Amino acid sequence: MKILITAGPTREPIDPVRYLTNRSSGKMGYEIAHAAAHAGHRVLLVSGPTSLDVPDGVDFIPVESAEEMYQAVANYLPKMDAAFFAAAVADYTPAEPSVQKIKKTGANLTLDLVRTKDILGSARSPIGFTGFLVGFAAETENLEANARLKLEKKSCDLIVANDVSRADIGFDSHENEALLVFPDRTEPFPKAPKHDLAMHLVSMLGE
Ligand code: PMT
Repeated sequence: MKILITAGPTREPIDPVRYLTNRSSGKMGYEIAHAAAHAGHRVLLVSGPTSLDVPDGVDFIPVESAEEMYQAVANYLPKMDAAFFAAAVADYTPAEPSVQKIKKTGANLTLDLVRTKDILGSARSPIGFTGFLVGFAAETENLEANARLKLEKKSCDLIVANDVSRADIGFDSHENEALLVFPDRTEPFPKAPKHDLAMHLVSMLGE
């Protein structure tokens, strides 16, 4: 199968030296890419900036901003059979990044932010993806209910919901624990190395 995976954080520029980002290390997405390539799938990894090595045998598109990630995904997703959206994409970006470095002038500085494109929410329409669609949900409360809302709103086949208020799982940790929210049921995946969760997710695809 041909599989697209998004991973890592995005960087939203404020000025030439500053940006908005988040705590994603990219580990979860890179483990899925590694597991999928190991299982013999053709894998395209679209990743924001991380310190990780690209797994062997994986095609790679590095991106920085949410807009760049959207463009890469929109270009390649229609040709894919399955997609895993593990990236932590910024929901807001500075409305007008400054061309020059912003100087310290007043006591306060207000940034005007605008919504980014929802890449997962665009996968079915307007991008037109018809394959197996897996989103993630990074939640701090009401894990299952919030994940099920995302599943329905974005027409996913599965949402992998993780609790990002915990330090031992989720962002930048070696392990994860998740609720696998399908249209007809929810399955817990107990705390384990991200590698194991990745193998489990890839095994759902079959050959
Ligand atoms: O990278 P690690 O350090 O290993 O951490 C893993 C992780 C915590 C980042 C990962 O397991 C995870 O939860 N990824 C999703 C993070 C997130 O942005 O969740 P969300 O609930 O805000 O977004 C829901 C879904 O929409 C996600 O699949 C996200 O990739 C996608 N999204 C969000 C916003 C946006 N503009 N476009 C998107 O495609």
